[in-house]
Amino acid sequence: MNQRVLSGMRPTGALHLGHYHGALKNWVRLQADYECFYFVADWHALTTHYEERDTIEKSVYDMVVDWLAAGLDPEKSTIFIQSRLPEHAELFTLLAMGTPLGWLERVPTYKDQIEKLKDRDLATYGFLGYPLLQAADILIYKAAYVPVGEDQASHVELTREVARRFNHLYGRMPGFEAKVAAALAKLPKDDARYLEKQRRDYQQAGKAEALAKGEAMVQKAASSAPGWTPDDSELLLGHLKGTGKTVLTEPAALHTEVTKLPGLDGTKMSKSYGNAIAMREEPAEVERKIRRMPTDPARVHRTDKGNPERCPVWQFHQVFTDEPTRQWAWQGCTTAGIGCLDCKQPVIDAIKKQQEPWRERAEAYLSNPKQVHWIVEVGTERARTVARETMRDVREAMGLVY
Ligand code: TRP
Ligand code: SF4
Repeated sequence: MNQRVLSGMRPTGALHLGHYHGALKNWVRLQADYECFYFVADWHALTTHYEERDTIEKSVYDMVVDWLAAGLDPEKSTIFIQSRLPEHAELFTLLAMGTPLGWLERVPTYKDQIEKLKDRDLATYGFLGYPLLQAADILIYKAAYVPVGEDQASHVELTREVARRFNHLYGRMPGFEAKVAAALAKLPKDDARYLEKQRRDYQQAGKAEALAKGEAMVQKAASSAPGWTPDDSELLLGHLKGTGKTVLTEPAALHTEVTKLPGLDGTKMSKSYGNAIAMREEPAEVERKIRRMPTDPARVHRTDKGNPERCPVWQFHQVFTDEPTRQWAWQGCTTAGIGCLDCKQPVIDAIKKQQEPWRERAEAYLSNPKQVHWIVEVGTERARTVARETMRDVREAMGLVY
C-alpha cells in the first residue's frame, strides 16, 4: 500500500565520493521503485553546528545541486528543505511530550557523537532531541521505508517505538466508531458482514487465520470498492485488530547494499579529516590527490612486493575498477610487476569518468539557479500537502482541535 521512501542529509559542505557511494547512489536507484521524498536536514545540521550559520546556508543549495548532479530526478523525487516545513517542528514538540528521556539517552549515537566531537559542546537540549526530530521527519510523511546507513538504524528503531507509543496513547481517536461505520458502508453488504465475522473470530477467539482473512478482505476493498481511500483501509485494519486507528505508521529501515568507500588515507572519508574527494572535484585535483595517496607502507621501493590488503588504493579498486583490472593490479602489486602510480591510473580514470555526467548536470543547474529553487519550491509544496494532512490527524488524535 504505502510505498513511500524518505531520507535526509545534513548540509555540512560539498558532498564527496563517500556520500555518493554510501547513500546517494542508492537514493537514485530507489526512485525507480518507490515514491521518494528526500530532504535537506538543515535543523539537524544545527544540532551539532549551531554556530556555523554560513556553512549551512551555503551548503543547502550546493547539496541539492549535488543530488541533482548525481541523478535525482525532480520529476520522480520530491526534494525539499526541512526548515521550510514548520510542521516537522510541531510534530517534534508534540512527540516530545510523551517520549521518556531514557529512550533518547540510550540511543547509541548520542554518547558516541559526544565522545567523537569533543571540541563541540553537545550537552544541549537540541542534540539530545536529534533522533526525535528525525522521528518527526519520518512519521510526518508516513514513510514505509527509510534508507539509512547502519549508524542510523537505532534512530529508525526509536521512530518505531515512538510511533507505537503514540498510537497506543492516542490511537482511539474521537469519532472512530462512526468513521468505521462509514467505511463499512462502502462495502457490499455481504463483505461487510464477512469482515465483522472475522473481527469477532479474531478478537474473541484469537483465531489468527480470521485476521488474515479480514486483512485480505480489506485489501480487496482497497482495489475494488467505489470511493475507497487509504484512510478507510487503515480504519478498518485498526477496527479488525482492535488497535484503533494507527495515526502514525511504523517505518522500516531499508538496508540495501551500499559500497563502503574509505578516505584517501584508509579511514572514513570525511571533509573534516582532509581525506575526501568532492563529487565535483576538478579532474586535475582528483589526479593529484590519488597520486599522493598512501599505499602499502611496506612498498617503499618500486622493486618491493606489496600486499594490496594493506593499501587503501586497493579499496578504491573494489569500488571503481572491473575484475580484470583488479587481477592485473593484484598480480602486479604482489610481484612488484607494476609501480604504485601504474596501479593508481585506472582508479584515476574511473573516478574522472564517473564525475563527467555529474559535472555536466551540475553546470546546467548552476547556470540556472532559478530552476533549482523552483525544484525545491515544488518539492516543498508537495511535502507540505502530506505533512499538513498528518498534522491534522495528530492534532485531532491528541485532542487539540478546539
Ligand atoms: N540523521 C541523518 C544523517 O545524519 C539525517 C536525517 C535527518 C534523516 N532526518 C532524517 C535520515 C530522516 C533519514 C530520515 O544522515
Ligand atoms: Fe597499493 Fe597498488 Fe601500490 Fe599495491 S601497487 S601498494 S595495491 S597502490
